[in-house]
Amino acid sequence: MPNSMADATNKLPKQNTSAPFLNTSGRRVRIAQFAENPMEGVEKNLYLEDQAMPDTSTLGSKDVIINVKSSAVGWVDLLMSSGQYQHMPPLPYTPGLEYSGEIIWLGEGIDESQAKLGDRVLVDGFVAGPRSPGNYQQYGGFASFAVAPIAAIRAIPNGFSYDEACNLLGSYETAYHCLVACGQLQKGETVLIHGASGATGLAAVHIAKILGAAVIATGRSDEKLEIVKQQGADHVINCKAPTGESGVRRFRDEVKALTNGRGVDVVYDGVGGDISIESMRCVSFGARFLVVGWASTPFVSKGKGQRGAPNANMLPTNLIMMKGLKVMGCPTVISTQHDASIRPERLEKIMEWVHSGQLKPYVSHTYELAEIKEAMKAKWNGDIIGGCVVHP
Ligand SMILES: NC(=O)c1ccc[n+]([C@@H]2O[C@H](COP(=O)([O-])OP(=O)(O)OC[C@H]3O[C@@H](n4cnc5c(N)ncnc54)[C@H](OP(=O)(O)O)[C@@H]3O)[C@@H](O)[C@H]2O)c1
Repeated sequence: MPNSMADATNKLPKQNTSAPFLNTSGRRVRIAQFAENPMEGVEKNLYLEDQAMPDTSTLGSKDVIINVKSSAVGWVDLLMSSGQYQHMPPLPYTPGLEYSGEIIWLGEGIDESQAKLGDRVLVDGFVAGPRSPGNYQQYGGFASFAVAPIAAIRAIPNGFSYDEACNLLGSYETAYHCLVACGQLQKGETVLIHGASGATGLAAVHIAKILGAAVIATGRSDEKLEIVKQQGADHVINCKAPTGESGVRRFRDEVKALTNGRGVDVVYDGVGGDISIESMRCVSFGARFLVVGWASTPFVSKGKGQRGAPNANMLPTNLIMMKGLKVMGCPTVISTQHDASIRPERLEKIMEWVHSGQLKPYVSHTYELAEIKEAMKAKWNGDIIGGCVVHP
C-alpha cells in the first residue's frame, strides 16, 4: 500500500479531479511468484487479468492514476520476473518499470501548477513502479491503470510519442551514468560499444555521438547493425562467432585498424562473457572499461530469488594489469541511491539534449497487452533494436 494512503482522506475533492466518461475497467499483467529463469516466468507464471480502476478512496492526496498508453519492455523486467535481478518487488506485482500515459485522476492535494487531468506524462522509475524502493512497486506499466505519486510524474517532451517517452529515462540515464559519470568520455576519443542495438546500447551510441566521440559498435546481426549505423555509429562490427562455434569471433585487428593501431579509449560493455575479454585486446593503454551489464550471460544469480552469484563473469587480471585498464562497475540505480546528488545534472543534460532535438529514443517493436508474452520473448531473443513497447 502506498505510504501516502496513510493520509488518504474521505474529503470530497474541491474541484473535478476525475476525468469524465471514464472507462473504469481494464487489464493488467501479474506475477505472483518468481521463476527459475525469465523464460520459465513468461511461460508459466505471468498472467493477464481484469483490472478495475484503483479505488480512489484508498489513495493519497498526492497520488495520481495514470491510464497507461505505452510501457517499455525492458531487460530488467525479464530478470526481475525470476528474482535474478538485484531488486525484488513484493509479490504479486505488475511488471513494466517505465511507462507513459494520461492522468485520469488526481489527489486533492495536487494543484494545477503540478498536473492536470489529461496531462501526457511519463513516470520516473526511480520513484514509482517495480524498481522503485517505496510503496508503489506493485504498479508497473503492463496495465491499463497505474498509481504513482506526483513526485514521479514528468511531462512528456514536445514532439515525443508515448512510445518514445517510456524509453527515455532508464536507457539514457544508464548511458549517461556509464559514459559520462564513470567513463569521462571526451570529444575526439573512441568508444567501443557492445550490445549497441539494445535499449541502453543504442542510447550510448546517441550520447557518445553528442559528446563528440567516435563510435565503434558491435552486434551479432548485420541488419540490426545497419540501423545502429543509421542512428549514428561511425563503424560497426559483426562479432558473431562462425556457425558451429560459440562465443564471439576475433575482432581486435579490425578495432586496431580503425584506431590507427592505438586501440579504443573506452569500452561500454553491456554484453559480458567472451566479448569482454576480446575487447581487452584492442584498448589503448590506460583505457576505461565500463561494466554495464551481461546480456550474453544473464544467469549470474540463481533463479527464484535465491541470490548468490554462481555464474559471475571473470575478467583476466593479466590484461587489466598490462594495459593499465581502469575497470569500473557502473550500476546506475545503485550509484544514485548511494549518492542522489549525481542525478540532477544527469537529468538536466539529457533533457537539454531532448529539447534541442539532439536526442530521441528509437523504438523498433510495439505489441498489444495481450501479446505480452511475445513481446518479452522478442526482447529476450534479441529481436529488438532500441526500445520495445507494449500498449495496454
Ligand atoms: N549499468 C546499469 O545501470 C544498467 C541499466 C540497465 C541495463 N543494464 C544491463 O545492460 C545490459 C543490456 O541491457 P539492455 O536493456 O540494453 O538490453 P537489450 O536491449 O536486450 O540489449 C542487449 C543487446 O546485447 C546484445 N547481445 C549480445 N549477445 C547477446 C546474447 N547472447 N543474448 C542477448 N543479447 C545479446 C544484443 O544485440 P545483438 O543481437 O545485436 O548482438 C542485444 O541487443 C543488461 O545486462 C542489463 O541488465 C545495466
